[in-house]
Amino acid sequence: MCGIIGAVSDSNVLPILLDGLKRLEYRGYDSSGFAIIVEPGKFIRLRAPGKLIELERTVNANGNIDGFTGIAHTRWATHGPPTEQNAHPHISGGRIALVCNGIVENHEELRSWLIDQGIQFQSETDTEVIVNLIQLHMERGLDFLSAIRTSIQTLKGAFALGIVNADEPGRIIGARRGSPLIVGIGENSAYLASDIAALIAQTRKFIVLENGDIVDIKQEEIQITNLDGHVLNRDMQFSDMNPQSVELGNRRHYMEKEIFEQGQAVSDTLEGRITTSRVLDECFGIEARQIFDKTERIQIIACGTSYHAGLVARYWLEDVGMPCQVEIASEFIYRNHPTPKNCLVVTLSQSGETIDTLTALDYAKQCGYSHSLAICNVPDSSLVRNSELVFMTHAGPEIGVASTKAFVTQLVALRLLTIVMARKNSLHNLNETESIRELRELPASIEATLNLEPAIQKIAQQFADKQHALFLARGIHFPIALEGALKLKEISYVHAEAYAAGELKHGPLALVDRNMPVVSVAPNDAQIDKLKSNIEEVRARGGKLIVFADSETRLSSRENLQVIHVASVESTISPIVFTIPLQLLAYHVALIKGTDIDKPRNLAKSVTVE
Ligand code: F6R
Repeated sequence: MCGIIGAVSDSNVLPILLDGLKRLEYRGYDSSGFAIIVEPGKFIRLRAPGKLIELERTVNANGNIDGFTGIAHTRWATHGPPTEQNAHPHISGGRIALVCNGIVENHEELRSWLIDQGIQFQSETDTEVIVNLIQLHMERGLDFLSAIRTSIQTLKGAFALGIVNADEPGRIIGARRGSPLIVGIGENSAYLASDIAALIAQTRKFIVLENGDIVDIKQEEIQITNLDGHVLNRDMQFSDMNPQSVELGNRRHYMEKEIFEQGQAVSDTLEGRITTSRVLDECFGIEARQIFDKTERIQIIACGTSYHAGLVARYWLEDVGMPCQVEIASEFIYRNHPTPKNCLVVTLSQSGETIDTLTALDYAKQCGYSHSLAICNVPDSSLVRNSELVFMTHAGPEIGVASTKAFVTQLVALRLLTIVMARKNSLHNLNETESIRELRELPASIEATLNLEPAIQKIAQQFADKQHALFLARGIHFPIALEGALKLKEISYVHAEAYAAGELKHGPLALVDRNMPVVSVAPNDAQIDKLKSNIEEVRARGGKLIVFADSETRLSSRENLQVIHVASVESTISPIVFTIPLQLLAYHVALIKGTDIDKPRNLAKSVTVE
C-alpha cells in the first residue's frame, strides 16, 4: 500500500508534493512526509504521524520551504508502528533520501549485515535497509545509479521506490518491482508517482513503468533501463482522466459521492458495449469470441468486495449452464488445481493492484489455466497488463476506501459476461434482448432506490449504540448480505456478520436478542417463503428486524419488524439494486458514529501487500 510521489521542476515542488499526497492518501494514511533538496547537499525533511493534515500543520509551523527536487510518501504501516521515526522518507548519510511502497522480505538479514558494517538504524522499517544499502555502496565507490542497481539486486519482495541524492538536485531515480509506479512528463518538469490521479493536476502525459524498470528522471530527460543497464523504450500515454472526477464537490464524503454516482457509472459501463439486442463480445477484447468459444468452465478470483461480486456471478453463470467456481485470491494459491483445461480465469479488482489477486493470477497461469480475463476499474494497472482479455468498468476513480460503484459496475460486467456465455448453450433460454433491456433500466432503478435515503437515515439511528448486527438472505442475495455486512463493519466498526438465512437455526440464532439488529434482504424471489419463516423465527426470539423488500414481497411493518420497500426489478438484476440500501445504511451509521468514513482505521484503498 502506501503512496509515493516525486517531482523535479523549475518551481517549488512543495505544493506539487502536498497536492499529490492528498490524492494518494487513499493508499494509506498512518503517517506522511517529504524530503526536498533546498540547496545542493541539503535536504529539508518533514514527517508527521497521522493523516496528511498533520504534515500540513508541521509545514505551516516550519515556515518557508523552497526547492526544485523532492520526494514524498503517505504510509500504510507494515513494519513498525505509525510514528514520526518510521515515517518516510528515510535518509542515510545525510544525502540519500528514499520513499518505498511495498515490502522488503529479506530486511532482517540485510539489517544484520548492515549493522555488522557499522550502520546505525533510525527506524523499525524494512525500507531503511534500502537507503542504507545505497549509501554504503556509494561510500564504497559506486555512483548514485549503480549503487541503486546493486542494492536492488539484493532485495527480495515487491516494491516501488523513489530516491533522491542531495548532491544531485534535479534528479530522481525510481524503481519498480511488483508495486505500481508511473512517470509524469510536464513542461520543464517531470514526476514519479504511484498512480496517475496523483499527478493529474500537473500533467496528462505518462509512462507506465514495467516490473524491473529503473527510471532516471531529470527535468529535461527521462531514461528507463533494466537492472543490467540496458536502455528500454516505453510508450508515452495520454490520460483522459477528468480532474473534477477526483474532487469531492458538494458531498460530505467520497463514499457518499460514489454511492450517488452509481446510476451514471452503470450507464458509462454499458455505453458502447451493447446494442438493443446484443452484447458486443469485443468489449472483453479482440480475441474474446475465440476464447469464449473454447471456454467450458470459469474460475473467478478476487478479494473483499470484488469477491462478493464474483459470488453473485456464480449464480448467473450456473443459471446459463456455465460451471463456475469463486475463490478468495489469498487462498487460491494454497490449493492444487488439477483440471484447469478450457477454464477461463476471471479476476475482479477495482484497483488492479491488489497483490493477492495478482499473485493468484500468476499462480493460475503456472497451473496451466487456459486464458484470463480481468474485470478492472483502473486502466494500465498491473492486472490489466497481465491479463489476456480485459473489461474496463467505467466507474470513474473510486476514492472512498469502501468500494461502492466499483462493485456495482463489476456486477454489470459480470452480467454482460453471463449473457455472452449463455449463447454457448441454447438449452438455457436466456433472452439476450430482454436481458439487455433489464440492464438499460438499471440506472433508473438505482436512482429510485437512492431516494430511500431519508428512510434509511432514520433506521441508521438504531445501530448507533449497537456492537453487533446480523445480515440474512438466501440464494443470489446472500452475497449481497455479505457485502452489506462488510460495508457496515469497515466504516462504522459495528461487528456485522452475514448468514445464509437457512444457517440461522444451526447456530447464530443463539445470538439473537433485542440488542442485535437483524437486517434482511428479501426480494420477492423463489426463496421468499422460506426467508419469511426465518424472519419470523428471529421475531419470535425478540430480535429486531430491518427488512429490505420489494413491493411484491407482501411484508409490512409491525412490532419488531420494519420493512423498507425497494423498487421492484427483474430477479436477475435485483442483487445490484438491493446493494444500494445496504451501502446507504452503512454510510449513515458511520456518519452518526462520526468515524472517518473515507479513510477507516487500519485500512487502505489499494492493498499491495500480501
Ligand atoms: C471493501 C473493499 C475491499 C476491496 C478489496 C479488493 O469495501 O474495498 O474489500 O474490495 O481490497 O480490492 P480490489 O477490488 O481493488 O482488488
